[in-house]
Amino acid sequence: MAVTPLLIGMPEMRQSSLVVVANRLPIDDSVAPDGACEWRRSPGGLVSALHPLLRHTPATWVGWAGGTGPAPALPDIDGVRMRSVPLSGEDLRDHYEGFANATLWPIYHDAVEQPQHHRRWWDAYQRVNQRFAEATAQVAEPGAVVWVQDYHLQLVPGLLRTLRPDLRIGFFLHVPFPPPELFMQLPRRAELLRGMLGADLVGFQRAQAAHNFAQLVTKVLGLPATDRRVGVEDRVVRIGAFPVSIDTVEMAALADRPDVADRAHRLRHDLGSPDQVILSVDRMDYTKGIEQRLKAYSELLAGGHVKVRDTVLVQVAVPSRERVSQYQILRDRVEREVGRINGEFGRVGEPAIHYLTQPFDRAELAALYRVADVMAVTPLRDGMNLVAKEYVAARVDDSGALLLSEFAGAAAELPQAYLVNPHDLEGLKQGLLAALRADPADVGERMRSMRAYLHEHDIRAWARSYLSTLDQSGSMLTRLGGG
Ligand code: ADP
Ligand code: G6P
Repeated sequence: MAVTPLLIGMPEMRQSSLVVVANRLPIDDSVAPDGACEWRRSPGGLVSALHPLLRHTPATWVGWAGGTGPAPALPDIDGVRMRSVPLSGEDLRDHYEGFANATLWPIYHDAVEQPQHHRRWWDAYQRVNQRFAEATAQVAEPGAVVWVQDYHLQLVPGLLRTLRPDLRIGFFLHVPFPPPELFMQLPRRAELLRGMLGADLVGFQRAQAAHNFAQLVTKVLGLPATDRRVGVEDRVVRIGAFPVSIDTVEMAALADRPDVADRAHRLRHDLGSPDQVILSVDRMDYTKGIEQRLKAYSELLAGGHVKVRDTVLVQVAVPSRERVSQYQILRDRVEREVGRINGEFGRVGEPAIHYLTQPFDRAELAALYRVADVMAVTPLRDGMNLVAKEYVAARVDDSGALLLSEFAGAAAELPQAYLVNPHDLEGLKQGLLAALRADPADVGERMRSMRAYLHEHDIRAWARSYLSTLDQSGSMLTRLGGG
């Protein structure tokens, strides 16, 4: 099959002239005895975004293969070179589960859970960032473009600039960047900011995040900054908002496949052919507002506003970061609440909530999106939320209501969604009812304009916009064959 790289890559590009650095490699956990392994669309926005972009584009991906111990040697996958960075058990605990996901993650998400601080976590964060920087310095060819991703690796741009000043370095943060009041809590705030400023371009999901960053570099480091530029010694670091997106065409084509349409019909039948299906798809994360959503649904059932026979909720919540205590506590609470609601409102063969914790392949997800009359995406805080965009892309007949939290990055781009504040339980209930009872003509109009927007603003547009900004000197686009 002929393939066209989604990225602006051209045939003369070499694998080591574009290097993506992300904590996770997008591969299957298991490597076959013959050394083969496959792309793995592990649940999570970063891999979902970069996977369609890099597939068949000559590039190297530096990341962690999962597990602990020595780094496995991995074969190329679809032309992308995989370079794995090892993590020890201690690194996993103190870097990934500790500093990244129990200090930074909660601070960056409005501290909806209490951030924790431990000095040994910071040591591990530095150590692992140094290892990623060294692995990248080894593979990048002279003058290569290196694109560092997300909060696990905020020190890498600075470390890499010291090791390899010839590189053009981009950094993109997939999660929110918090207001100064929150960021200032971090004991190592100055080092984290300096690390990011090692990049030539620091990209965020939203303009507000770039503004927060500009304020902080002035406040903490005393550097001159606007929302577009920071002066760092003899360099200018560009900053800006680049809302990440999805492969809109691919998702629409998948949802339009006859087998996916058949699967959606069967799913509706298996759900008891209700009048309306509400769907939520999340990683099991306290930022996603799962408990608030369950409460809203349960109160609507208790108040007689919705009936189980007519309206079912399908909640997909794939477990995530399972050794971090806040995630364990959340899972226990969610499962207890699902059990309570089903016990109270369900009947034999008719649960109120269909609760699924499995990872699904893309076709099954597309079928779920097709069957959902209302998609409830109500995080308390989210950098973007690609699930919302996937739902819109999958609604090939322009039907379906998107209930979307104001606190998801996607809300800034999809104002035609039914917007809600998930902290406001009454508002959440009213929003859900409004989406369930909306006039189909209104639903169709909203969906059409969201689909038109996503058609233009897809993952390819995101990469072009980011990389062309990174290419201030003009060298990158020229080298890659134009923009
Ligand atoms: P986050 O990055 O915080 O997990 P996003 O909504 O941006 O949130 O991205 C989640 C990605 O993970 C989406 O691409 C979605 O399709 C995928 N995903 C979520 N749940 C599942 C699941 N159960 N099986 C497969 N993919 C999933
Ligand atoms: C979010 C983060 C990603 C992360 C993903 C899944 O999308 O921004 O960096 O990869 O969640 O989380 P995990 O901890 O499984 O990598």
